[in-house]
Amino acid sequence: MKRIYYHTTTIIVFILSIFFPCLTLATDTITSTQPLTINQTLVSTGEVFELGFFDPGNNNLYLGIWYKKIKQRTYVWVANRDTPVTSPSAELKLTIGDNGNGNIIVLNQDETAVWSSNQSVSTANTVAQLLDSGNFVLRMDNDEDPENYIWQSFENPTNTLLPGMKLGWDRKTGVNRFLRSWKSDTDPKVGDYSFKMNIHGFPEIFISKETDVRTLYRSGPWNGRRFSGVPEMKSVSLIEFEFKNNSDEVLYWFKMLNGSYYSRLVMSSSGSLERFTWVESSHAWSEYWSAPRDQCDAYKKCGPFGVCDANASPVCKCMTGFRPKNQQAWDLRDGSDGCVWSSELECGSDGFLPLKNMKLPESSKAFVDQSMNLSQCAEICKSNCSCTAYANMDITGVGSGCVIWAVDLLDMRQYADSEGGQDLYVRVAASDLDQSPTIGASENGSSNNVAKTVGITVGISAVIIILLLLFYLRRKKMQRLKNSSINRKGPHERSQDFLMSEGIIVQSKKDYSGETTTDDLELPLFDFTTLTIATENFSDENKLGQGGFGCVYKGILVEGEIIAVKRLSRTSGQGVEELKNEVRLIAKLQHRNLVRLLGCCIEVEEKLLVYEYMENKSLNTFLFDKEKSARLNWQKRFDIISGIARGLLYLHQDSRLRIIHRDLKASNVLLDKEMNPKISDFGMARIFGGDQTEAETKKVVGTYGYMSPEYAMDGLFSIKSDVFSFGVLVLEIVSGKKNRGFYYSSNQLNLLGHTWNLWTQGKALELLDESIRAEFSKDEVLRCIQIGLLCVQEHAEDRPNMSKVVLLLSSDVLNLPQPKYPGFSLGKRHSEIESLSKHDESLTINGVTVTVLDGR
Ligand SMILES: *[C@@H]1O[C@H](CO)[C@@H](O)[C@H](O)[C@H]1NC(C)=O
Ligand SMILES: *[C@@H]1O[C@H](CO)[C@@H](O)[C@H](O)[C@H]1NC(C)=O
Ligand SMILES: *[C@@H]1O[C@H](CO)[C@@H](O)[C@H](O)[C@H]1NC(C)=O
Ligand SMILES: *[C@@H]1O[C@H](CO)[C@@H](O)[C@H](O)[C@H]1NC(C)=O
Ligand SMILES: *[C@@H]1O[C@H](CO)[C@@H](O)[C@H](O)[C@H]1NC(C)=O
Ligand SMILES: *[C@@H]1O[C@H](CO)[C@@H](O)[C@H](O)[C@H]1NC(C)=O
Ligand SMILES: *[C@@H]1O[C@H](CO)[C@@H](O)[C@H](O)[C@H]1NC(C)=O
Repeated sequence: MKRIYYHTTTIIVFILSIFFPCLTLATDTITSTQPLTINQTLVSTGEVFELGFFDPGNNNLYLGIWYKKIKQRTYVWVANRDTPVTSPSAELKLTIGDNGNGNIIVLNQDETAVWSSNQSVSTANTVAQLLDSGNFVLRMDNDEDPENYIWQSFENPTNTLLPGMKLGWDRKTGVNRFLRSWKSDTDPKVGDYSFKMNIHGFPEIFISKETDVRTLYRSGPWNGRRFSGVPEMKSVSLIEFEFKNNSDEVLYWFKMLNGSYYSRLVMSSSGSLERFTWVESSHAWSEYWSAPRDQCDAYKKCGPFGVCDANASPVCKCMTGFRPKNQQAWDLRDGSDGCVWSSELECGSDGFLPLKNMKLPESSKAFVDQSMNLSQCAEICKSNCSCTAYANMDITGVGSGCVIWAVDLLDMRQYADSEGGQDLYVRVAASDLDQSPTIGASENGSSNNVAKTVGITVGISAVIIILLLLFYLRRKKMQRLKNSSINRKGPHERSQDFLMSEGIIVQSKKDYSGETTTDDLELPLFDFTTLTIATENFSDENKLGQGGFGCVYKGILVEGEIIAVKRLSRTSGQGVEELKNEVRLIAKLQHRNLVRLLGCCIEVEEKLLVYEYMENKSLNTFLFDKEKSARLNWQKRFDIISGIARGLLYLHQDSRLRIIHRDLKASNVLLDKEMNPKISDFGMARIFGGDQTEAETKKVVGTYGYMSPEYAMDGLFSIKSDVFSFGVLVLEIVSGKKNRGFYYSSNQLNLLGHTWNLWTQGKALELLDESIRAEFSKDEVLRCIQIGLLCVQEHAEDRPNMSKVVLLLSSDVLNLPQPKYPGFSLGKRHSEIESLSKHDESLTINGVTVTVLDGR
């Protein structure tokens, strides 16, 4: 009986081991008599973390820790990141080392150690335990006091900071613990980027590219509440952030207020610092925060004494009392030379300009005194001529402590609200201070008292002129109503005419973003006869093209001005007044990368839009034409890509209306005389009465080949659908080839699939249009291809938004993330589209906008 029973158990164990080859030791601990093989894992008591050997996808074995309950393997620590096990088996052991010390070691198949905890304390009776915090510790068998751990993984971080894990400097041992990225997503080897505390001066944390010793981003110093450059670090109910500076250590860490939530801070292999939190309901990690996040996060974006303001355009500003050091570069939006004082400083009599919501300047050379208050701080700074700025060290309560800078102020930025940054006081000449009592950075720091007097005089004259002007305009309007002549100039232009005729030259108030202030713009209405005459009765000779919304004609007004007239093909569901309102709104969108809407004509049966005329027609006439395409050299193409990106960003984000284009394509990008790109047809969905706030639409408006999968299939659209179209356009511009929607050459792949293949084979450069291979920047081309691929990723949430795209395009510093599989790249998808297109016989597939009714 006993014997049979014994046999049965063996068989059950045998069967179990067949079905569950990866048996876990039912324990969280290893001892010297109980090693861990590659088929076993340790699991922490609360089943939060698991430790074992894994292969990240490069056919090597590593010892690491991951979340037990999360199916999508997420590694938080790797022991032997630089010394992988290459043999098929490995072992984790506790040893009595050569000199009798207990260590955790990883052995490969032939029993040589590839990794060791390398501690030198000599001990016996040790155990190694995986804790629920994710900490893997070596301790005495009978001593669980964290103070007495002999070795712990939390003190040897890799690329991830877990709750409770401390980053920073131990003054006693001189060890500075920091995060270092993986080499790539599948290679845990020490990578290029680090996230490391700088303990000099007023401590703060830097992201650096270690391979070329370059700082990419800094957090700003800890101001008692948060890092001065991380406004998002509000006290949330989920995470608590901690910072400690004392005679023993300078540390940063975070705690989860509810232990059942997971959050981790990761230095990614692409150079961005990312915080993820686990969302149980969607079984996914969600990106909670990341840095660098915008242009102003780029280290020293605006040079010495320059201030970056992400909400302004251009982003770089000089404070009151300062002027750009290199005006020419500044005008070209290169702020890296920064600003200089516009008046001589006189030391004793200088004043201090108060600035609100500032990320404090780089502070490794700052001088800190915890005991001083702000008024004492001001005294010290005022009396020391080399002091350039001061601030409170701690902003909690009424503020305390004193920080003083006696160096150039670097990498400052200003936030829009008081949630970011803190007050900073910057030394300026007393004269500049009186001139501008307002707090804040001004665009221009003009200089002395003479200028001031002149300024006031000019100001008063301006007020008088404006009053006169308003009066004049009013009269003019009355006249116009009387004789109902065509009026196609906004008051803006008319006012200029008036001033010029009066011999006063005014400078246009255009800022460098290309956006003009047009709050007062009144929509010019053209009458139908005028447009009929201008376009010679909409003759075929004057036809410029045909789009989904109607035909476009070239027209010449009686005054000689050339215009483009779009005759909308169908009546919309809207009433005439609503339609006018929409057009009026759209006309207010002005950006140098958008085609300007000059006016409209809405009569009972006719709806026409009048645009500025673009000499070089549309991008597709160049791009897909063998002869003309060579005229678009790489530099031009890159400029075109950047221009389109800025125009689209403006539509998505920067304009007062949030506009989704829904039909971005090469034929909707027009080129002016200098080949500057301008997006046309934006806001058409709005004009046609499409509801922009709705996430789903009954009408699928767009062009196959440029449509994102979620839009073409389900009629779901978002700004990310535009990003997809932008991605397609980028790849078309680089390759000079059309994304035909379905097929590309004989491989049955479209342009996206083709690009993806080249990309994965490391031959992406082959995509570049043959006609321009003579001269190009390899980096830029590859960057554009990668951005293109990022934008056409299958899942909308993976695609970057336009502000990120603009950032990535403009910066060769940031490393790009690796793209995932593009949407619509497989031949098999094609049948799905075809069946979709059968809904409506009148569809034209290529180039022309299709409207599928009831797409969903
Ligand atoms: C681990 O499991 C595999 C297959 O399940 C087996 O072939 C191998 O011998 C096991 N290795 C060890 C060290 O137990
Ligand atoms: C182990 O520690 C010693 C000194 O404590 C050091 O010299 C040696 O480089 C370390 N070895 C490894 C592999 O880290
Ligand atoms: C950090 O702590 C040390 C030692 O207590 C002190 O001297 C120093 O001023 C402190 N620095 C800051 C920025 O708090
Ligand atoms: C933590 O969160 C879980 C899940 O939301 C909740 O059930 C639990 O009550 C929370 N615990 C505390 C202490 O707030
Ligand atoms: C700052 O400290 C000085 C000296 O301790 C004191 O006289 C002064 O009133 C304090 N100022 C403020 C605003 O607290
Ligand atoms: C002014 O401040 C700098 C930096 O803190 C210091 O090195 C210098 O000695 C100070 N000069 C005077 C006159 O106090
Ligand atoms: C800015 O300053 C420069 C020189 O100081 C002056 O020529 C220019 O007119 C000023 N612009 C404005 C807008 O004040």
